[in-house]
Amino acid sequence: MPLKISDTLAVVMIFYLFIFTSHRLIMEYKRITTKTLLEMKNNNEKISMLTAYDYTFAKIIDQSNIDVILVGDSASNVIAGNETTVPITLNEMIYHAKSVVKAVKRALVVVDLPFGTYQSNPKLALKSAIRIMKESGAHAVKLEGGSEIKDSVSKIIRAGIPVMGHLGLTPQSIYKFGTYSVRAKEKNEANELINDAILLEEIGCFATVLEKIPSELAKKVSSKVKYPLIGIGAGNQVDGQVLVMHDLLGLTTEFNPRFIRRYLNLSQQIIDAVKSYVSDIKKLNFPNEDEMY
Ligand code: KIV
Repeated sequence: MPLKISDTLAVVMIFYLFIFTSHRLIMEYKRITTKTLLEMKNNNEKISMLTAYDYTFAKIIDQSNIDVILVGDSASNVIAGNETTVPITLNEMIYHAKSVVKAVKRALVVVDLPFGTYQSNPKLALKSAIRIMKESGAHAVKLEGGSEIKDSVSKIIRAGIPVMGHLGLTPQSIYKFGTYSVRAKEKNEANELINDAILLEEIGCFATVLEKIPSELAKKVSSKVKYPLIGIGAGNQVDGQVLVMHDLLGLTTEFNPRFIRRYLNLSQQIIDAVKSYVSDIKKLNFPNEDEMY
């Protein structure tokens, strides 16, 4: 029997629906790679990056279509409770990275090389990066600094490990700066930062984080390089943004620089929930009949 026009229309619609949903599924679950980030920059699509340090949060964040998950050495602050990022060790970073990698199906996972594991010589830097890649299964490493660590960065990249740079406020050097204030406001430091961003691109970094610098300077850097720049407190003329997960979720309350946008007040919600739990226990309200065996 010949198909009616309405049947033909239905078949065409089902066909397009199938193509549309499978395309969306492929887009949602396709692994983000360093190459994807460059494509995103070239297509003017902004890159989203957030930190994570454990399996449970990494799994939730990965389901939120974040592009890059950074296992940041900010774990030293928000997980271990240290004042700075200086004390965290390579073993501790690998422990966090392993848990994150197990949870992540889509995002690119980048891991910070901690203080003291790459600055002194390129051989040590490569050894540290290899340990992170082999023991955690992460996809790339991040190092803080410019020309002073160029040999370390080059050696790691030549061994086939993708490297993300980090310029501006580099928290591992906090004792050199003395404060967490905005960096590169003066001309000399600004020029040095521009040269470092160009150098990191030349030696093969796939992206660089710019932390806490004037937005005009970030814009200038952007006009000089072709690789993606990810900002944190560097304005909106860069190719993407990164935040520490605990700040975005409002788990931290005392750290309040202007670049943080808190999307939740999770700290208060947790306090309220735990208070209700305590009160239910005291009032013999928990467990109830349905919650017992
Ligand atoms: O360790 C970290 O969380 C970072 C981001 C602030 C970029 O390096």
